[in-house]
Amino acid sequence: MIPATDVSLKELNTFGIDVKAKRFIVATQTEQLLNLLKEYRDDTLFFLGGGSNMLLTKDIEALVIQLAIKGKKILREDDDFAWVEAQVGENWHEFVLWTLEHDLGGLENLSLIPGQVGTTPIQNIGAYGVEIKDQMVECVALRIKDLELVTFSNKQCAFDYRESVFKNELKDQYIVLSVVFKLTKGKHNLKIEYGAIQSELDKNKITHPTIQDVSKAVIAIRESKLPNPKEIGNSGSFFKNPIISTAQFNKLQATYPEIPSYRINDELVKVPAGWLIEQAGFKGKRFGDAGVHSKQALVLVNYGKATGLEIAQLASTIQKAIFEKFNIKISAEVNIF
Ligand code: EPU
Repeated sequence: MIPATDVSLKELNTFGIDVKAKRFIVATQTEQLLNLLKEYRDDTLFFLGGGSNMLLTKDIEALVIQLAIKGKKILREDDDFAWVEAQVGENWHEFVLWTLEHDLGGLENLSLIPGQVGTTPIQNIGAYGVEIKDQMVECVALRIKDLELVTFSNKQCAFDYRESVFKNELKDQYIVLSVVFKLTKGKHNLKIEYGAIQSELDKNKITHPTIQDVSKAVIAIRESKLPNPKEIGNSGSFFKNPIISTAQFNKLQATYPEIPSYRINDELVKVPAGWLIEQAGFKGKRFGDAGVHSKQALVLVNYGKATGLEIAQLASTIQKAIFEKFNIKISAEVNIF
């Protein structure tokens, strides 16, 4: 297996940033990945999944290994549940649609999220009141230093809002190879309290929604707010929603009574970064080819030829402005390289 050299990554990251991988190879089988890791153990390696949660600011001076191992199947089922396994390289949305075709419930609110299955536990992806941690049973990950396969239970993943053990204590030490979800077969537990879902269902006069209806509603909401990466480069929410103290929130609310919020507990409140960014005047702004999406200020976009550095610069300008205006630090959800 000989890697290609100086390969453009433009089509392999959803921001559409045109940087090069010094060397590049695609892994489509676990055996092949293991062989690559043995053969290139002394090299600097960079693992690429769906490229949907990264901002590339420079050429990658490493051997880039694209994780493209595919496969999905129902492992077992009982009267109420099915245990479903998907491999790292499966496209997340196609996998969700496949579970819906099998009438399996639990992932419908996570429809249309870009990226691959293997990244979902790292990031604990979430949308419309559901996170991956709610349905994930376990995942199998490859320990890079000794090529051992290790099973992580849901608990061992130490999930939190857009966080897991793989982003923290075990950062860069494992490659998630496959993920198992426990999904409902008949008695689905619909989560439609999230405002926009209910109004989308109402709009379509759906009073007894199925999991497929919920998925369609989520797709419609996402399409109305979030830019399609195939048309305008982006990485979804660029920042995480900050979590602040109740005391700080109360002060803010006195000045901005309309501020949206989600209470976490008595002491902590999450506020939408999109709202803060809009208030700071950035929504819809464009600086060359880097910009802030006009329908959702949490999404930074590449209108065509922006460099990763220009987007990173815009992100840091926004962070400074939010800190000056609200005394709140917002941090990137996207990984910056
Ligand atoms: N808002 C504004 N202006 C904006 C954007 C949002 O005022 O430009 C307000 C909205 O009116 C609403 C609140 O902020 O009151 C929340 O907005 P929204 O429902 O769009 O959700 P979000 O908090 O901005 C999060 C996730 C999204 C996920 C949605 C729906 C994060 C960082 N982002 O966004 O996830 O789809 O909720 O559940 O938690 C992603 O991670 O890439 C992503 C798209």
